[in-house]
Amino acid sequence: MDSNTKDRQDDGRQITWHRMDITRERREQLLGQKAAVIWLTGLSGSGKSTLANALEQELAAKGRHTMLLDGDNVRFGLNKDLGFSKEDRVENIRRIAETAKLMNDAGLIVLSSFISPYRVDRLAARTIIGDAFIEVYVSTPIEECEKRDVKGLYRAARKGQIAEFTGITSAYEAPEHPEITIDTSKAEIKECVCVLLAELEKYGI
Ligand code: ADX
Repeated sequence: MDSNTKDRQDDGRQITWHRMDITRERREQLLGQKAAVIWLTGLSGSGKSTLANALEQELAAKGRHTMLLDGDNVRFGLNKDLGFSKEDRVENIRRIAETAKLMNDAGLIVLSSFISPYRVDRLAARTIIGDAFIEVYVSTPIEECEKRDVKGLYRAARKGQIAEFTGITSAYEAPEHPEITIDTSKAEIKECVCVLLAELEKYGI
């Protein structure tokens, strides 16, 4: 039994973990793939969503079953009640990690694209998800993200119109030991995806 299917302990709330007969391993077998969570972290505008989208296309072309969770999109639904305070970002990442884990248990390869700025929260996500967690640091420098400013948010943040904007008035803690690092200012997206695919192969994806 791997870390992802182990029973969760009763934490004093009179709830009991039910062990089901169809396990994650069985679902992976049925789908013919190894489930994983490819966790992209990086600044706003670093290219996470573009990369995740392009990577998912390639995985789909290879017949992989995938799901993409994206910061802005998830905030329209599941996390519509959350803002960008430290507390809200912690809860944002916790819910996403739990969601990704559920999808992982369903046998899917999950691509998650969130700034996820705090090391401790990414570590918590790694703990929730277990061995399937693959951290991809999209290390595009802030100068480049700000130059791109696709959504005009950096400009607004510099003018003081957005509070607690990551990289400007709110911290981004770069990963210390990510499984993969990729800088989208150094290569075309297509090339970055090739690098990612080659790296992911090492993890059996
Ligand atoms: S996270 O920090 O909680 O992980 P998440 O990835 O969900 O952030 O959402 C980030 C997106 O929200 C950004 O790409 C940007 O479009 C938008 N956004 C709006 N306000 C902020 C802010 N204060 N800081 C960062 N991103 C913001």
